[in-house]
Amino acid sequence: MFPAASTLRHEFTIPPCTNQHPFTDKRLASWWHLHCHQAKVPVTVSEFGDRYCLIGPLSYKSAPMEVEAMEPIDDDALSKTLKSMRDQGVKILYGRWLIEGAPRVLLFDTGSMYHRLDEWKGDLWNLAGIPTPPNDHETNETIIFGYLVAWFLGEFASHQLKTAIVAHFHEWQAGLAIPLCRKRHIDVCTVFTTHATLLGRYLCAGSVDFYNNLQYFDVDHEAGKRGIYHRYCIERSSAHSADVFTTVSHITAFESEHLLKRKPDGVLPNGLNVVKFSAMHEFQNLHARAKEKINEFVRGHFYGHYDFDLENTLYMFTAGRYEYRNKGVDMFIESMARLNHRLQKANSPITVVAFIIMPAATQSYTIEALKGQAVIKQLHDTVVEIQQRIGQRLFDKAARYHTNDNVDLTNLEGLMSNEDKVLLKRRIFALKRHTLPPVVTHNMNDDANDPILNQIRRVQLFNRSTDRVKIIFHPDFLNSNNPILGLDYEEFVRGCHLGVFPSYYEPWGYTPSECTVMGIPSITTNLSGFGCFMNDIIENPSEEGCYIVDRRSQSIEDSVNQLTDFMTSFCQKTRRQRINQRNRVERLSPLLDWKNLGIEYAKARQLALRRAYPDAFDDDGFDMNTPFEKMALSTPASPRFRGGTMTPGDIGTLTEEMQHLATTDYNGTQSWTDIRKVE
Ligand code: UDP
Ligand code: G6P
Repeated sequence: MFPAASTLRHEFTIPPCTNQHPFTDKRLASWWHLHCHQAKVPVTVSEFGDRYCLIGPLSYKSAPMEVEAMEPIDDDALSKTLKSMRDQGVKILYGRWLIEGAPRVLLFDTGSMYHRLDEWKGDLWNLAGIPTPPNDHETNETIIFGYLVAWFLGEFASHQLKTAIVAHFHEWQAGLAIPLCRKRHIDVCTVFTTHATLLGRYLCAGSVDFYNNLQYFDVDHEAGKRGIYHRYCIERSSAHSADVFTTVSHITAFESEHLLKRKPDGVLPNGLNVVKFSAMHEFQNLHARAKEKINEFVRGHFYGHYDFDLENTLYMFTAGRYEYRNKGVDMFIESMARLNHRLQKANSPITVVAFIIMPAATQSYTIEALKGQAVIKQLHDTVVEIQQRIGQRLFDKAARYHTNDNVDLTNLEGLMSNEDKVLLKRRIFALKRHTLPPVVTHNMNDDANDPILNQIRRVQLFNRSTDRVKIIFHPDFLNSNNPILGLDYEEFVRGCHLGVFPSYYEPWGYTPSECTVMGIPSITTNLSGFGCFMNDIIENPSEEGCYIVDRRSQSIEDSVNQLTDFMTSFCQKTRRQRINQRNRVERLSPLLDWKNLGIEYAKARQLALRRAYPDAFDDDGFDMNTPFEKMALSTPASPRFRGGTMTPGDIGTLTEEMQHLATTDYNGTQSWTDIRKVE
């Protein structure tokens, strides 16, 4: 239904200048770009080839290493456009992005146009009624970038008269060009995808009952109160001016409908680039190898208190940005405390080590955490040395065998010398410890007020010998070069048994999705985009190792109990059952592969084309393989949207017209997710 390639359209993808999340950690931002845009490139290149181009802001720091500059000699329209913009002082880097798929990229140096900021701000106010305060750097960047993109698209569309142009914008920082294109009647069709709403993130960062009040928020007032009214206006006008408005999950669609006042036309779930191993057991072997590395860390961390059996130990973890409530860390810790109680009461042989991997402000590793790894390493090295010496002596003894001797292996005294015994005892004494194994691996900047630590104190999970659930809070991202828990995140996930992500606010949620493609079972909630997606497409997610806690229709107490039940029954599984479950989970990975989810993007583009050029489509649908001529090139893309002042409210009423179209042609086609129900 959606042919892989069409030679008839141009596609531009415009990711945001920066990560949109107001509370984000910078390190996450680069990851976010990688996953959301870079990972999607191969599948889009396979559809569009060189007619696909990504547009973004130019960073002189990273671009020279990542982009091979070139001139668009084979593209007359692009050549003319770039020349004209460069003649007017815009600095541009055009070339190939050196990643898989090698797509074309067009990077604008926003700094080269800062002198036009005030002019463009004035224009934005006159055109769309969007006010902009003077000192918001991110908004300033957004405005310049938005005006440059609209400028580019306008010129390019005027030179490129043969084929339709689809521009796909992500997030409010990239979206500003959409109302500009609309106002200027530029002949492009636009898709806007929001990955979360600005206001949603801000509201959830407080302690509001978000989902039960969604319809009642006074959005302008709430945005104003938080100093983000102007940003909110940009996001809202992008959503309303786009031909097609989409988001990443049903839960965010619900949020967008109420906070941005436009119901999304469809949902474009986030995918991953799934690497399939040729043999099923390979990922199981990876689990075993990575788990051994975690075992090593655990032996060191619990030195002096290492009285549990690693063969009966399960590794559970939660990870992501440090948003205590949104990420459900509150629920994670409370449920761990209940699980501890249940395992104690049942005299269970199982020990659970629960990791929390969330970056917080820290100074360094604690001495105690470093010492644990050091003493266990020394012990290990000493044992290896002694082992070699024992081996040498044993060999010597055996080599002295004389034909007339009896082979007597009963008296092996003396194989371990007194020096060896002293050395070993010293190493063992070094394991003496008067404190409990630490809960946190780093010195926190604000230990006393840290919400995670405070809750651990409240529920008293202090890593006592009697505790069946041990807690380790690693307030930084993982890295294989770290002296503690020296594994990359991916390796760490593979080595664990269960990912636990009981989020309250989670537009998508890559962490459970990554677990799935690595064959690691996970728990998430029906308030996360990923959870909703899996709920929609799998008959019985729990049986597939994808547990979904209901945080929508039951009380917090019931949700905590449900989470504890999931974890308790996981602890009751045998090794064989865990292995089987990992196999089942891994089998779900095609559902999350961009190779399949890319189709949703193709549908959104097709809908944008249908809306912009309705006359080009007959009742049988649009055949992407037949030559597609633009309609009247002089007419604006969607005459329905002309006239009136462009304020968010006004556009809202116009958008109502689109809703009818949305339901008929977007959802009219059978969705991929309907077709691929997992049996
Ligand atoms: N992550 C990472 N290193 C770590 C822990 C987490 O790179 O040590 C990444 C992880 O791969 C995941 C992302 O952080 O993709 C978190 O994304 P998610 O969508 O789950 O939540 P977010 O934190 O973006 O809200
Ligand atoms: C993988 C390996 C097995 C190993 C198992 C441990 O499946 O291939 O050799 O026994 O992991 O599983 P567990 O759930 O106990 O970590």
